[in-house]
Amino acid sequence: MKKRIVVLTMAVLFGLSAVACGSEGGSSSGGTDTSTESSSSGSSDSGTVANKDKPLVWFNRQPSNSSTGELDMAALSFNEDTYYVGFDANQGAELQGTMVKDYIEANIDTIDRNGDGVIGYVLAIGDIGHNDSIARTRGVRKALGTGVEKDGSIDSEPIGTNTDGSASAVQDGSIEVNGKTYTVRELASQEMKNSAGATWDAATAGNAIGTWSSSFGDQIDVVVSNNDGMGMSMFNAWSKDNEVPTFGYDANNDAVAAIAEGYGGTISQHADVQAYLTLRVLRNALDGVDVDTGIGTADEAGNVLSDDVYVYNEEERSYYALNVAVTAENYQDFTDSTKVYEPVSNQLDESSHPTKKVWLDIYNASDNFLSSTYQPLLQNYDDLMNLDIDYIGGDGQTESNITNRLGNPGQYDAFAINMVKTDNAASYTALLSQ
Ligand code: BGC
Repeated sequence: MKKRIVVLTMAVLFGLSAVACGSEGGSSSGGTDTSTESSSSGSSDSGTVANKDKPLVWFNRQPSNSSTGELDMAALSFNEDTYYVGFDANQGAELQGTMVKDYIEANIDTIDRNGDGVIGYVLAIGDIGHNDSIARTRGVRKALGTGVEKDGSIDSEPIGTNTDGSASAVQDGSIEVNGKTYTVRELASQEMKNSAGATWDAATAGNAIGTWSSSFGDQIDVVVSNNDGMGMSMFNAWSKDNEVPTFGYDANNDAVAAIAEGYGGTISQHADVQAYLTLRVLRNALDGVDVDTGIGTADEAGNVLSDDVYVYNEEERSYYALNVAVTAENYQDFTDSTKVYEPVSNQLDESSHPTKKVWLDIYNASDNFLSSTYQPLLQNYDDLMNLDIDYIGGDGQTESNITNRLGNPGQYDAFAINMVKTDNAASYTALLSQ
């Protein structure tokens, strides 16, 4: 009996070492392959890469202080293969503000619904602690002249209701068209957070427009939202029937299609470029090649991005996609938000880019932009880049709901992280440092 156990043990050991040899020999099924050639950095003598040295990309929520916006450089430079991928929030916010202003000017004869000389708008704020949301609130207020300076930048606080123009975080702006001056007023703004804590909450925005319209509906001439999820909820609940132009952000498919039915416009944050960059920086680190490969420098398959679609800020270790306004004039070009970006749509060769296993989370599985645009794009690119990704969907409220599912980082070759709160990077890096 004893002898049989020994023999069995030997067989198991032998079997294991055969598997290990197989994976070193470049087995393509080896999603968990941790051989030295799998990364440019930090391999140990045993040929296994420590979790703290594996490629890591933060995306969509940039590690930063949610009150001051200051970047969390410890998280952004966690190891030499750590990056952030997002988009240029300020450039996009300025575009959004300008898009709304241009629309008002072009439609000045009909926009003031009750003819009181005041162009009133309401604003749906996504998350008061999220850089993108803060930038968009500022961009809209700046373009419409309703912003008030606070500590060197435009105040981005929600104001509640301001139908009489007395709020202190905003002021009345003015727009002059054809020699006539109109007052512009932010009638109301609110962070769209539900009672459980989920931010950018579309249902909350739908309820808010119900409340606002029933008390001062005839004063609302324009609806603005920090994203399309909330914007479409308000459009469907009220503004479509009342023919009130509504503006969002993200260029989600349903929002782009709604432009034909009166949705005022949206901004594409070039999610097709962001999703590519998110996975490409991991792929490059796993291949041990220069991070610019297939980005600013064409790879052997011909993938390359031109510099009018992204910028790289080396100091911030961040890639930012550039934004484009989507309006009645060009929306036909944006009807499929999940289509891969053609210049980077070439398949990588499996023999020089063997399959690797990636852990990736989406902070809120029901976020419209992330679930209907970003994740489908990632799923298109993961095949092109031979990445075998486990997609983890969070509840949008609690970080631990996601971190609990990063129980075994040793199973993965790389990580892509979308946090619930931008302050919380350390709760992930702690797990990778153990
Ligand atoms: C998107 C929003 C989304 C948020 C989630 C933003 O960049 O524009 O639509 O809700 O990210 O973090």
